[in-house]
Amino acid sequence: MTQIILVLPGDGIGKEIIAEAIKVIDALKSDFGLDVEITNGLIGGAAYDAEGHPYPPSTQAQAKVADAILLGAVGGYQYDDLPRDVRPERGLLGIRADLELFSNLRPAILNEELAGASSLKAEVVAGLDIMIVRELTGGIYFGEPRGIRTLDNGEKQGYNTLVYKESEIERIAHSAFKIAMKRDKRLCSVGKSNVLEVMELWDEVVERVGKEYPEVELSHMYVDNAAMQLVKAPKQFDVMVTGNMFGDILSDAAAMLTGSIGMLPSASLDKKGKGMYEPIHGSAPDIEGKNLANPLATIMSVSMMLRYSLNQESLAQKIDSAVETVLKQGLRTADIYVDGVAGTTLVSTSEIGDAVVAALKS
Ligand code: IPM
Ligand code: MG
Repeated sequence: MTQIILVLPGDGIGKEIIAEAIKVIDALKSDFGLDVEITNGLIGGAAYDAEGHPYPPSTQAQAKVADAILLGAVGGYQYDDLPRDVRPERGLLGIRADLELFSNLRPAILNEELAGASSLKAEVVAGLDIMIVRELTGGIYFGEPRGIRTLDNGEKQGYNTLVYKESEIERIAHSAFKIAMKRDKRLCSVGKSNVLEVMELWDEVVERVGKEYPEVELSHMYVDNAAMQLVKAPKQFDVMVTGNMFGDILSDAAAMLTGSIGMLPSASLDKKGKGMYEPIHGSAPDIEGKNLANPLATIMSVSMMLRYSLNQESLAQKIDSAVETVLKQGLRTADIYVDGVAGTTLVSTSEIGDAVVAALKS
């Protein structure tokens, strides 16, 4: 049966990088029998401009019937002064919450070709392969109450609430343990139970769930130490599981270990495996429309989509090896280009996308 992919380019470089991912999907359709139909929709600032809301009812309806969703990025300077509840970012949080995409997988894998592009020494990152599992629909991002209030003395006070229920911790813990079982069977749960009661409960529930996965070696780390360890000795990690905000922060740090945030895809899954796939970098409005952005994170997000939602592991591997081929050919977008490295060429968004398609077909 034909499966439906909803494509949401969003804002900034979103359209450019999605265009390259579509080329890849089209090649899989024409040459490898992939049976999917693409529908296009609006999210973020683009949706606000067209329909007055960053996650409008039209997109909600499309998202409900889609088998998987491919998203570019949201946000732009022109939306910075909008009321908070219609800002582009709220569109992204809205779709994550609406579809209950609680399990966010953010792999940080160093492609050996790019060891020199990392800001860390090549030997510290060579062979790096970490999976960060970030809780995506709870925690301080969604906790109530939230807001900015005026105190009796007239001073303003901003407040948000970091909350996790046992059931929310349990389901993300199961996700993480299951992934660890398919990898090196080591899981590090990242929290802050020395200060926060909510993270004390987090540790306790993760321990409890861990009893069901005796083969997985479970450890706990405070988030500040985890940030330090990520830049000191990142290869000690296999799978990391953490809450929404800590995961947001640690995944940017982990991304940079791999040379560029332009290389990292992600999957956000619900309990049935329906998912939304997006690069973890943002909308980069400063380079919008310049054909400079790196589309590889988006293209690898398509690979994750094939693997996790569309049950097409062999096509996912084809994409992964096409990306590897292109990097071996020395093609580099600006974010991964290091001046003076022999055998490398600086290329544009569309050139590297075309090269991936060519590698797929060869
Ligand atoms: C991410 C982004 C989002 C987040 C923003 C754009 C709302 O930083 O996906 O990591 O904070 O989750
Ligand atoms: Mg982020």
